Amino acid sequence: MCGIVGYIGKRQAAPIILDGLSKLEYRGYDSAGMAVFDGEKIHMEKEVGRLKVLENLTRGGETMKGVLGIGHTRWATHGTPSCVNSHPHLNREGTIAVVHNGIIENYITLRKLLQEKGYEFVSETDTEVLPHLLDYYYRKKGTPLAAISSLINRVEGSYALGILFADHPDVMYAVRKDSPLVVGKCPDGAMIASDVPALLKYTRTVYYPDNQEIAQLREDGVKFFSLDEEEQEKESVTIDWDADAAEKAGYEHFMLKEIYEQPRAVVNTISPRIKDDEIVIDELKMTDEELAGVRRIHIVACGSAYHAGVTGKYVIESLARIPVEVDVASEFRYRNPILAEGSMVVVISQSGETADTLAALRESKARGFRVLGIVNVVGSSIAREADSVMYTWAGPEIAVATTKAYSAQLAALYLLAVKLGRVQGRIGDGDYREMLSDLRSLSTQIELLLGQKEKIQKFANRYVGARDIFFIGRGIDYAISLEGSLKLKEISYVHSEAYAAGELKHGTISLIEEGTLVVAVATQPDLYQKTLSNIVEVKSRGAFVMAVTGEDNREMEKAADYVIYLPQIKPCFANSLAIVPLQLFGYYVAVGKGCDIDKPRNLAKSVTVE
Ligand code: G6P
Repeated sequence: MCGIVGYIGKRQAAPIILDGLSKLEYRGYDSAGMAVFDGEKIHMEKEVGRLKVLENLTRGGETMKGVLGIGHTRWATHGTPSCVNSHPHLNREGTIAVVHNGIIENYITLRKLLQEKGYEFVSETDTEVLPHLLDYYYRKKGTPLAAISSLINRVEGSYALGILFADHPDVMYAVRKDSPLVVGKCPDGAMIASDVPALLKYTRTVYYPDNQEIAQLREDGVKFFSLDEEEQEKESVTIDWDADAAEKAGYEHFMLKEIYEQPRAVVNTISPRIKDDEIVIDELKMTDEELAGVRRIHIVACGSAYHAGVTGKYVIESLARIPVEVDVASEFRYRNPILAEGSMVVVISQSGETADTLAALRESKARGFRVLGIVNVVGSSIAREADSVMYTWAGPEIAVATTKAYSAQLAALYLLAVKLGRVQGRIGDGDYREMLSDLRSLSTQIELLLGQKEKIQKFANRYVGARDIFFIGRGIDYAISLEGSLKLKEISYVHSEAYAAGELKHGTISLIEEGTLVVAVATQPDLYQKTLSNIVEVKSRGAFVMAVTGEDNREMEKAADYVIYLPQIKPCFANSLAIVPLQLFGYYVAVGKGCDIDKPRNLAKSVTVE
């Protein structure tokens, strides 16, 4: 989605804005722009394409003089990617500049009203109503704060805004509703950004504005105001990520770095929650008795987080014998779900900002159900609105295709499953001890698998030209296949489908041709034989089969053409191991094709629109 950065202070704003925007490139974009107050007027530059184009045009920001500015990377929703549609947008006199992330839902009505008042529009965007509406209210009310608060009352939808008024060159304004925004206090000024990585180089002291709270930034400080212009007390938060968290640290891509950070993400998520040989998840804010009373679980999420949820369903149902429903958030919110007494809703999100997941959370709360958020970004909207939050301690994830956050989500779900199984009396002492020991050793096992990188790279090189690749598996292996297939297609653009292995013959098997690669996942010993039969089915139609299986399943060598063995682990936790070679496979196919690994086309990391 779009990225926003703004700076006010003692230093030249444009280079700082460009640097900040470069840290938000993972959000996906098609054009970029900046507006800087140059001492007399607002000077604006916009370009279609990567940030590099804007950097070249402004010689790294040097040509834009001034200490107050806002910048934006756009991911087109309303109107094609073009210079005129890209942000910032201005009022007619060029005295008010706005950058916006989100969608103004009532923009057609507002546009009509403003046109009737003589305002002229140049772009196709929803955003352009904002500078005109601000212009209208500023003339009427006389102060930027009053104009912004009137704007907020008129506008429907989601937004994070950075706003400049040429009449007030010593101040920048920002406000948000349902779109992410962080405000930073730097030693020499203040900043806004859509996400923390853009600020890290300049400050670690940040504020998370609430919905519809207006931030007023000056060189010497930051203030917050409510809609009725009352100043608000606000606590700052200190970010303790290490400095290279948002840097590639020698890796060719963020994705590879993050694949390698998985052991740490998993250990950081698990270790603090195992105390004296017991799983303790204080953040749930539920007693063991309350947990023992949970009768049904609804997991709701999008993308890879949804795939983690599918695994969660298998694991929770098998360990705790509690029925689990998993929904894609965009479906859940409109299907009038049946939430019965004793239901617990779990939403999973790396960013904590995904619009559909947030809406599902609100829908569940409105119906009176407790919502647990499994979230990676501290202070994000989902983290703030959920009744309880279980953080995945994966650290900042930059590559659009998630890897370490997904692994940390699995770890959190395992802890929840074992905890529920234990309090519901389904897991005996011996099994409990073994499970804790497996959870503790998970990160070392993942480390071991990472050692097979070269082997997987060589294999992946053979499939750089592949047209279709299929993934099959049963039970948890099907859940792994969903994620393996998604990783491959989102970054390499190779068409891929994941199928429940027994279902393939009801349709997709007709697509198997001589040499088509089928990746068979078989980590569940009770299903080895069944999946072997499916492998035989596809091989007899010409498929080439790569299998990912447990090291005890040597029979696989007879059936599959290429086998990756996984270290020993309890089958319910096998996803955490099996996903690693599949992530590496997707990564190396995409590298071989020369794809833009960290910023795949058309995708965004944080999807803050419906
Ligand atoms: C986008 C990303 C996916 C992610 C999904 C859900 O589609 O590209 O990688 O899994 O959103 O995001 P969330 O932040 O809610 O986990």
